[in-house]
Amino acid sequence: MSSPLFDWFVPCPRGLEAPLAAELAEIGELHVAGAPLSGGGSLVVGAQVPGGVHFRGGWVAGMAANLHSRIASRVLLKIAQGPYRNENDIYELTHRQRWEQWFAPSQTMRVDLTAIKSPVKSLEFTTLRVKDAVCDRLRDVAGSRPSIDTAQPDVRVFAFLTVNECTLYLDTSGEPLFKRGWRLDKGAAPLRENLAAGILRLTGWTPGTPLFDPMCGSGTFLAEAAQTALGIAPGSERRFGFEKLKPFHPGMWQKLKTAATEQRRAARASQSDINIFGSDISGDMLEKARANLHRAGVPNLSLKQVDARNMVPPTDAPGILLANPPYGERIEVRGRGPRGEVRDTPRSRREDDDAFARAQPDPADTEFFVSFGNALKQRFPGWRAYVLTSDRKLPGMLRLRESTKTPLFNGALECRLFRFDLIAGSVRNRPAEE
Ligand SMILES: C[S@@+](CC[C@H](N)C(=O)[O-])C[C@H]1O[C@@H](n2cnc3c(N)ncnc32)[C@H](O)[C@@H]1O
Repeated sequence: MSSPLFDWFVPCPRGLEAPLAAELAEIGELHVAGAPLSGGGSLVVGAQVPGGVHFRGGWVAGMAANLHSRIASRVLLKIAQGPYRNENDIYELTHRQRWEQWFAPSQTMRVDLTAIKSPVKSLEFTTLRVKDAVCDRLRDVAGSRPSIDTAQPDVRVFAFLTVNECTLYLDTSGEPLFKRGWRLDKGAAPLRENLAAGILRLTGWTPGTPLFDPMCGSGTFLAEAAQTALGIAPGSERRFGFEKLKPFHPGMWQKLKTAATEQRRAARASQSDINIFGSDISGDMLEKARANLHRAGVPNLSLKQVDARNMVPPTDAPGILLANPPYGERIEVRGRGPRGEVRDTPRSRREDDDAFARAQPDPADTEFFVSFGNALKQRFPGWRAYVLTSDRKLPGMLRLRESTKTPLFNGALECRLFRFDLIAGSVRNRPAEE
């Protein structure tokens, strides 16, 4: 049985387009082409654009991307694309689409609109025109208009405007995909799960290699890595928007989930030592991490309460150390001397600023990072350390020279993922330049 192919767009945190494309290609190989599913079709990865990746595939490919992608923020099904000059053209394009094929007027919906260099005067008004066009179409064809629910809609329509083109998408994810369903307590500044998963992929970590997060907070890196090692699909504990769309076929979805359970069993059988370790200075954070890891299905990781300045390698064999230290703007470093003078810029303005470019190291932060750098150099020879931070002066404070730095966005906060190759006797005193 052949099924229709669609164009899909998968948004992701900026900077993670290449890892997402690689992940989608793997999902295509393992979970669509290889799965015993009729009507599955294939998943063919297309262009990477800033903030996302296109692919082409059938309905099963869309469901598989939702279930298995750790890096995607959402999976959007392309409904139409057309040129426009004004809001009326957008209304006409939207009204021409057969929304009645996808959902019923008895369902609730919301519309979101994103624009880059669009000439329309008001994005709010244009969003209303898209909403009206969908509602009018359903009233004309199916007899009544859907109601709007911005908080928990059954259906989400996305419109994307460039300078002269409008693309309409139906969201098949519902809640954004970084919400895996296991996080109980957010802690002070948790990373989004899909950013953590993308960073893990950027480090080149693979299951079996020792992984250590010495400032693990709520345990996001640990949970993503351990679920990967144990073959647990990131979406196995949540619901998806596609379940409310008309083409949803529960039998087909069940087959996909059963195949995922089989993969999990196979991964568990082949996994002898999980080799994933975390520590944090805060006992409260470790409690939160434990609860999260339990809910994520990976309850038995080693978590210790340790000041990162006193950390020691958790294994004899070197591995990957991955840390997301406190950012000056977001959370305080603990276990250090008294904080220096408070900066005079009000917090709200600081948050709007380019934090990466402007961050000024606090003397107490510097002291902490110098000690942390010493611990890396003296106790972790042979390890590769990755540090995600919004502070461009971090390599200088660690007294280490980075071998790579990758720009990434943690929400609106511009960060770098610095890589340090810790070679025995490689203490370098020259701060890195940027
Ligand atoms: C930005 S948060 C990490 C968030 C984590 N990646 C997550 O997703 O939840 C920084 C963490 O560093 C911890 N921390 C602060 N000072 C520390 C120190 N001296 N040693 C170890 N951990 C420390 C904090 O308790 C906090 O959990």
